[in-house]
Amino acid sequence: MSVKAVVFDAYGTLYDVQSVADVTEDAFPGYGGIITQVWRIKQLEYTWLRSLMQRYEDFERITRDALAYTLGSLGLEYDDDSFARIIDKYLHLDLYPDALAALSALKDRKLAILSNGSPGMLDALVRNSGLDRLLDAVISVDAKKTFKPSPQSYMLIEEILHVPPAEVLFISSNPWDACGAKAFGLNVAWIERVTPEKMALACLESETLPPLTMFWALRTQMDELGVVPDHRIHGLAELPALVSAIRS
Ligand code: LAC
Repeated sequence: MSVKAVVFDAYGTLYDVQSVADVTEDAFPGYGGIITQVWRIKQLEYTWLRSLMQRYEDFERITRDALAYTLGSLGLEYDDDSFARIIDKYLHLDLYPDALAALSALKDRKLAILSNGSPGMLDALVRNSGLDRLLDAVISVDAKKTFKPSPQSYMLIEEILHVPPAEVLFISSNPWDACGAKAFGLNVAWIERVTPEKMALACLESETLPPLTMFWALRTQMDELGVVPDHRIHGLAELPALVSAIRS
């Protein structure tokens, strides 16, 4: 097999969702960490719950609902302006520092995003970060009215890029997404950004574990779902070498 298309998850893989911490802390000093983590945890929970309930709403609505839940659950009062300032960061998330170089080095393949994000959110984010110049397609699960890891969502890759799953390498740092893509039949590279050693150190170093450690424990360690991604890398910088090495 040679890799004809490299398809990326967006949030947490190319874009650092933790970069909202600046605006959450600015809006609610002392609460930035807990807001950032509960918000992301709830956002993903709502994608899975709404998929199971068959009550699809797009990711923009889900992201807003998850933020409203988070602020409400912490007893924080807010007005429309402060809410809008926080939400706006989702259109300006930081790219991981190795993202641009990795994508540039792969431009002889088809490059795309497959994300839960709504088309409007993704288009703005990709444009604001300059990735529009490097990507061949930005694919939103919105076309299927369901979320990853449903098989229908991964089907969009072949439908839109016309590359069969066997010739696609899918990249995600989200373990549940890497497992979902593998279960569907894609070749998958999982980005392990938080190694077990880093995790263990984080737990040892602090008596009161900060919310980020809880997030790392929940959403960065490989899941026990009976599927194993094909490749494990530790950052996007390792990707060009991996793609060149994959042949059979
Ligand atoms: C995405 C979510 C999974 O970009 O982070 O689809």
